[in-house]
Amino acid sequence: MRIFQLTFFFSIMFALLPSTWASDIKQGEHIFKSICIHCHGMGGEQKFAPDLTGIGTRRDVAWLNAWLKNPSEVLKHDRYAQALLGKNKYGIHMPQIPDMQDDEKRANVIAYLLTEF
Ligand code: HEC
Repeated sequence: MRIFQLTFFFSIMFALLPSTWASDIKQGEHIFKSICIHCHGMGGEQKFAPDLTGIGTRRDVAWLNAWLKNPSEVLKHDRYAQALLGKNKYGIHMPQIPDMQDDEKRANVIAYLLTEF
């Protein structure tokens, strides 16, 4: 009996997983398009910040997570981030964003960046 319950549980879980993942990416997209897009633009367009095309090939999840949570903290010790400032021609810097203090929202934006850019 127990094995049937377990099988049932896992089949429900696997049925739900892809849709949960998709809705997380949707929330990430929503956040990106309401906050980040004002500086970053999309599809090669640059506004006041670097184009994020291919960001998933340049940076890993741990870096993105730390950067989105607190850019100035990462700048203290990370050479890549310091080099970004050297190349900055926009006159403004990546701010610490209140919405990015929320672990779930941050994870969803990262999921969006890694799948769509
Ligand atoms: C006020 C403008 C502004 C906003 C809003 C903003 N950024 Fe940035 N971002 C920057 C700037 C400028 C840089 C380049 C580093 C610097 O000078 O601070 C940057 C750098 C980055 C980088 C590193 C880029 C690279 O090429 O390695 C990532 C990733 C990033 N931002 C993601 C985001 C996300 C996601 C959001 C929304 C949650 C966001 N940014 C909102 C201005 C902004």
